[in-house]
Amino acid sequence: MNSKEIALNERIIVALDVQSPDLAKEMVKRCESHTRYFKVGLQLFMASYFEVVDWILARGHKVMLDLKFFDIPETVKLAVEQLNSRGVSLATIHGNDAIIRAAMEARGDLQLLAVTVLTSFGEEDLRAMGMTQSVEDLVLFRARRALKLGCDGVVSSGLEAERLRNDLGEKLLIVTPGIRPGANVRDGSDDQKRIITAGRAVATGADHVVVGRPITKAEDPARVIAAMQQDIESGLAG
Ligand code: C5P
Repeated sequence: MNSKEIALNERIIVALDVQSPDLAKEMVKRCESHTRYFKVGLQLFMASYFEVVDWILARGHKVMLDLKFFDIPETVKLAVEQLNSRGVSLATIHGNDAIIRAAMEARGDLQLLAVTVLTSFGEEDLRAMGMTQSVEDLVLFRARRALKLGCDGVVSSGLEAERLRNDLGEKLLIVTPGIRPGANVRDGSDDQKRIITAGRAVATGADHVVVGRPITKAEDPARVIAAMQQDIESGLAG
């Protein structure tokens, strides 16, 4: 269980996985009465670079820039340096030691999250890459190293959030994608393999949840956010 004081309207980070700046702005307008945290990822960034990021920030909202930097340490450091004065709150890097160390040198006020294991990966994907650990052990192993190197937090599925919180303590920021409202958590009809509800993710240790399609494909995104916030509140109330 985590005890950080985070406003309810900053718990859910809406993943703006849309193809154009106009669609992204429309989505922000439909969500902003309920949440003020938005994630810009590869698809949207390639379509608009910083235009949408700056537009969201100018409306007084927060941005997580999810470009998952992965390159030689010096290149990652220089990329983080470009970012650290742009007003973005969170950015993602891959969680290998040398990359984290280099990125931390350049981060300034920017908080950095290390990707542990993508939430679309299951045990069989790890086997296919020649890895023998379980997903949970690998997530914990990589998160422990990231924290040791001074990284602010990790991206991790809700299924591992509880163990991360219990083993690594309160300092670690845990951001959890792979959130589903309910039904498909049970039926498995999804490309995300390690999925969980928003309420359960936060109740068991996540600070923020990242939610894309359940919100962006909904007829009424604000209503879905409100329902998830209710779920989060009851999760936190225990
Ligand atoms: O649509 P959905 O809710 O599955 O979107 C999840 C978002 O979280 C996507 O933007 C995806 O890139 C991102 N993400 C993830 N797993 C990670 C890191 C980020 O699913 N480990």
